[in-house]
Amino acid sequence: MRIGVLTAGGDCPGLNAVIRSVVHRAVTNFGDEVVGFEDGYAGLLEGRFRTLDLDGVSGILARGGTILGSSRLQRDRLREACENAQDMAREFGIDVLIPIGGEGTLTAARMLSDSGGLPVVGVPKTIDNDISGTDRTFGFDTAVGVATEAMDRLKTTAESHQRVMVVEVMGRHAGWIALESGMAAGAHGICLPERPFDPADLVAMVEERFARGKKFAVICVAEGAHPAEGTMDYGHGAIDKFGHERFQGIGTALAFELERRLGKEAKPVILGHIQRGGTPTAYDRVLATRFGWHAVEAAHRGEFGRMTALRGTEIEMVPLADATAELKTVPKDRMDEAESVF
Ligand code: F6P
Repeated sequence: MRIGVLTAGGDCPGLNAVIRSVVHRAVTNFGDEVVGFEDGYAGLLEGRFRTLDLDGVSGILARGGTILGSSRLQRDRLREACENAQDMAREFGIDVLIPIGGEGTLTAARMLSDSGGLPVVGVPKTIDNDISGTDRTFGFDTAVGVATEAMDRLKTTAESHQRVMVVEVMGRHAGWIALESGMAAGAHGICLPERPFDPADLVAMVEERFARGKKFAVICVAEGAHPAEGTMDYGHGAIDKFGHERFQGIGTALAFELERRLGKEAKPVILGHIQRGGTPTAYDRVLATRFGWHAVEAAHRGEFGRMTALRGTEIEMVPLADATAELKTVPKDRMDEAESVF
């Protein structure tokens, strides 16, 4: 079998672990040939690929980013790209494609698979953990760890200066990173895209803490969080060329707002791409390795149009259609749990 692999969309710690695992399982167990397309679907469309052998994936398990490079696909080019991708895959003799990516990548994978021209087995990835059908995506644990450590560190400097720290983490439409890192770090406020917040509640929380003799507060805010209507002057921005909403910096806006209302110093800290860079945690390396292993097995069983998914402790294959139907956002009971420990 000739297997094509690509990584598309925003990168994520653990991508290299999947690539390595696919190559090991395919080459060693099945005697397959594996080729890696460069820079996501762009490499498939432009015929940029290289053979991946055991030597080629040696030493990459712990490396962040992706050795293949990645790129995003503009939504209006998706169908056209799919048609061309099938032709290219046929030309390169690819029997099955394993695209590793988030919602956009898996949607393209589903279109490729639905059109019947190219067998596909997907592998979900995203630090946001917002893909339906799987309990977890690799990269999330790493991002939560980075954000948690940052807030732990910010607490000590905040306390020294009696400041409020507003820490903005990634998560456009789903607040999983804010929820879990905020809980892990013991943040005093957590703002999620799923539940509009009222700055007055945060002001009350900070004042109550200072009245109790506490001299600092840390608020964790997802980049997609927004104030309830009429509570604060703030609006999210335009749509970028990939169809994603552009965010205007809720962390900075909220810090300024709190400083104005409280009369205390409030500092914004934007963690940004630090959450995506660097080595994956042990958890993410294991999950990514299992996903790669199961993707190759599924390819050999002919289970196409599906993706690997973590269900409990088992890896299962779920239809790409289920995974891309809707984003997995934070449910109400998880938000209530987090609020109860502030
Ligand atoms: O989807 C993953 C993600 O890291 C989001 O959390 C974030 O909003 C986005 O990608 C950032 O994308 P870019 O790398 O294009 O700035």
